[in-house]
Amino acid sequence: MYKRTLVTSALPYANGPVHIGHLAGVYIPADIYVRYLRLKGRPVLFVGGSDEHGVPVTIRARKEGITVQEVVDRYHNLIKDSFERFGISFDVYSRTTSDVHQHLASDFFRKLYDGGRFIEQTTEQFYDPETGHFLTDRNIKGECPHCHAQGAYGDQCEKCGSTLSPEELINPYNAETGNALVKKATKHWYLPLDKDEEWLRRWILEGHKEWRSNVYGQCKSWLDGGLRPRAVTRDLDWGIPVPVEGAEGKVLYVWFDAPIGYISNTKELCDAKPETYGKWETWWQDESTRMIHFIGKDNIVFHCIVFPAMLNAWNRAEAASGGKRQYILPDNVPSNEFLNLEGDKISTSRNWAVWLNEYLDDMPGKQDVLRYVLTANAPETKDNDFTWRDFQARNNNELVAVYGNFVNRAFKLTEKYFDGKVPACGELTEYDRQIIIEIRNIKERLESLLEDFKFRDAQKEAMEIARIGNKYLAETEPWKLAKTDMARVATILNLSLQISANLSIAFEPFLPFSSEKLREMLFFTDYKWEMLGDMKLLPDGHQLNESSLLFEKIEDDVIQKQLDRLERIKHENEERAAAESLAQWKPSAVKEDTSIDDFDKTDIRVGTVITCEQVKKSDRLLRLTIDDGMGTNRPSGEPYRVILSGIAQSYPDPKVLVGKQILFIANFPPRKMMGHQSEGMVLSAVNADGKLVVTSITAPVANGAQVG
Ligand code: MF3
Ligand code: ZN
Repeated sequence: MYKRTLVTSALPYANGPVHIGHLAGVYIPADIYVRYLRLKGRPVLFVGGSDEHGVPVTIRARKEGITVQEVVDRYHNLIKDSFERFGISFDVYSRTTSDVHQHLASDFFRKLYDGGRFIEQTTEQFYDPETGHFLTDRNIKGECPHCHAQGAYGDQCEKCGSTLSPEELINPYNAETGNALVKKATKHWYLPLDKDEEWLRRWILEGHKEWRSNVYGQCKSWLDGGLRPRAVTRDLDWGIPVPVEGAEGKVLYVWFDAPIGYISNTKELCDAKPETYGKWETWWQDESTRMIHFIGKDNIVFHCIVFPAMLNAWNRAEAASGGKRQYILPDNVPSNEFLNLEGDKISTSRNWAVWLNEYLDDMPGKQDVLRYVLTANAPETKDNDFTWRDFQARNNNELVAVYGNFVNRAFKLTEKYFDGKVPACGELTEYDRQIIIEIRNIKERLESLLEDFKFRDAQKEAMEIARIGNKYLAETEPWKLAKTDMARVATILNLSLQISANLSIAFEPFLPFSSEKLREMLFFTDYKWEMLGDMKLLPDGHQLNESSLLFEKIEDDVIQKQLDRLERIKHENEERAAAESLAQWKPSAVKEDTSIDDFDKTDIRVGTVITCEQVKKSDRLLRLTIDDGMGTNRPSGEPYRVILSGIAQSYPDPKVLVGKQILFIANFPPRKMMGHQSEGMVLSAVNADGKLVVTSITAPVANGAQVG
């Protein structure tokens, strides 16, 4: 019943380069799907673009000391280029600062406004009195109410991962300036989502039970929790101006304008090339179009609830004014979970990522390797981890050892025995027939997995073709038969080359560069999806091109370089986090009153550290010997006082304390710890980063001098 498919992929923020998480979560799956549909000859439009509004781009601009326009120009171009080089085959990749989009998004808002689809509300928002700015989400930082880390964002704590609202932060401050914030009244327009609950429940919970369980589950929990009106405007100086009177200084909320970008970008393309792409309305306002949104899990609520509610509001406004146009809603929203990197959450602000532009520089020509690994590890049903060791193993053990090795052997043997011409297929053995059936059966499984958005399993099926081929050559051993039975060798190689041609089709959605290379090697130009499973794709006597390796082994040193880079970044991040918590640190409140008499009971003295070393089998304790000026005049008869102190974590090199004059409490009764007698307590301060710093005095004082 559907005549065409509109595929959208989330518009990445133009606040930095794109990384492997973007590719794995959204763009590779979308590209696989689109390439598959195109190979099948089904009409499809693949829409992408950069999301250039919102707070993140403005933060980046301030960080880099350039204008916001410069930021979005820089990253839009970088992102677009990275996608192109990875073979993400968009029909259009535009941007939300385009004229078409400014107009369309503005008109969209106006239509809802005129149709009475918004409510207006004045609320108290966080405001920085010094800069005169309202602040939201990522511009606000503070202490996390859950894990009490400093520097949690107004929308999320990067330390413990919990989702936050600025209201929940303890001591919120302007992330940029550090200024404390106050509340101030401001007016905004809200989409009353509470009124949409009923039809959304029917549409999603009853109508789309086939959606991935992570998507369906998130929608259900949002709906069960009850929807609330959502502000669609913000007090910001970057964005699309709110097109109504009395809204000076206000812009459309980025999550209002960005999804409209899908429409604008379609319009931009169709208006430019109507003869190729038709009218944009055909893609957006025709019930025979099937729309699929590819997104990551943090985008689910916006694509399954907010954007549909916006489209629905537009449709109602249109109907109320007697118009006939109606937007379609998505038919499916295959959202992925997250990809982690070496066990840690990928983060643009913490530079914890493999950036695509850097990968392309470091590993030229290896786009398909990353595509392969990211699909093999796709976080389709749960979060997954990318590790460089796994990357290397999958390349060496799968792409090189299975796929590449098989194709290479088929070509080399054909070159050796048949001058690079496809030898004639003779009589088939029982085993040959079995292989042919196995190859043919793969098509159906592969198709149903692709139609179900199960790309990870689908790629495994494609790989199965290479495995079958590899096994076939290993078991038939044509290189041995060459001495005795050339006709049999001819048949084996014919079938192997047919399998290779099949591989070039099956892998086209996944590994487009390698497929193209393989097709060139095969001189196989006229191909389509329906040919898959056909074992007569190459005619007898067909001349092959010169062969070269499809994949190359990746050595340890290449991987080590990447691991070293991550190690460096981890270190930088730790230093930055420490500096940040230092900057935000405040001393604790002063304890309740005491008296000189109480204080006087404690005997604090000066002593020189003679030795200082880690206590064996303890990662917490240091053992200090201290010259306290008393000589051997003590119960133990030793020349120095021994004190055990739980400061080892703060002093990885204990020797730094040797020779220092420090303060200690002399009149605590001795006690045994880890087999040592400890005679007192060393005084130390808890620093802002939680580390202990032993108090030492600078001007020399006689050992044993009393402090008071
Ligand atoms: N920029 C958003 C993100 O990276 C995604 C926007 S998707 C769109 O999470 F639909 F709004 F365009
Ligand atoms: Zn936290």
